[in-house]
Amino acid sequence: MPTRGERNFFRLPDFAARMYESLVSMNAIRLQHREIAERLTRRIQRGRLLDIGTGPGMLLREVHCLNPEIELFGLDISDAMVALAWKRLSDIPVDLRAGNIRKTDYANDYFDLVTCTGSFYLWDEPAAGLNEVHRILKPGCKAVLFESYRDFDKTALRQALRKNLQGEPWMRRMISPYFLMKQLRITYTVEETARIVRQSRFAHTFKIETILLANLPMWMCITLSKNDHEPS
Ligand SMILES: C[S@@+](CC[C@H](N)C(=O)[O-])C[C@H]1O[C@@H](n2cnc3c(N)ncnc32)[C@H](O)[C@@H]1O
Repeated sequence: MPTRGERNFFRLPDFAARMYESLVSMNAIRLQHREIAERLTRRIQRGRLLDIGTGPGMLLREVHCLNPEIELFGLDISDAMVALAWKRLSDIPVDLRAGNIRKTDYANDYFDLVTCTGSFYLWDEPAAGLNEVHRILKPGCKAVLFESYRDFDKTALRQALRKNLQGEPWMRRMISPYFLMKQLRITYTVEETARIVRQSRFAHTFKIETILLANLPMWMCITLSKNDHEPS
C-alpha cells in the first residue's frame, strides 16, 4: 500500500509543486527558514549539510546566504520538487537528488549535518528513514530535524498565526490556516515521535524540545547524535 510520502508527493505534478511553493511564499515562512538556517549554521562552519524533503529548496538558500562555505545537498522523493529546486537554486552550488530517505545512494559517514523541515511526518517507515540518516551521518555528528507536532496548544497557535498573517493578501489569510491545520492533524505527537526514534539507531542519543519558529508554538526540534552514549 502506498505510504504518506508516496501517496502525497511521489507522483506530484509540476503544477502542484509550484502551488506548494506559492502557498509557502510568505514572510512568516521565510522567517521560519531563516531561523532554522541560523540554528544550523551555528552548528557547523563548513562541511556537508543534507536537507531531506527539501521541496523547492528554500532552506538551502537561507543556509547559503548565512554561510556560503557549507556544501549543500538536498533530497526529495518528488521529481517535480527537485526540478523546481534546481530552477530556484540555479545560482548557487548545490547537489539535488530525487529519492526516498528510506534508502539513499550517499556513502556511509558522509554528512556533517543532516536536517529536514516538515517532512519527517510524511516518511514511509520513519524508523528505517532515521536508520538511513544514521548510516550517512559522520560519527560524532548530528541530525537536527524540525517538525510540527499534533498536541499543540490550539488557542496559542491561532493567536500567533493571526499575527503572522497580518499584512498578507486576504486570500492567503483565508487558505493558509486551512492547509496548516490539515497538515497538523496528520503529524505525530511529541510522544509518538519519541516512540519512533526509540525504534531507530538513535534510540539512546536523542533529544526532543518544543520550540517556537516564527513565533508559532507548533515545532519540535529533534536532535539525533550518531555516537552511542554521546549526550545530545
Ligand atoms: C511539506 S513539504 C516541506 C518542504 C520543505 N522542507 C519546506 O520546508 O518547505 C514535505 C517534502 O518532503 C518530501 N518527502 C516526503 N516523503 C519523503 C521521503 N520519504 N524522502 C524524501 N522526501 C520526502 C515531499 O516530497 C515534500 O517536498
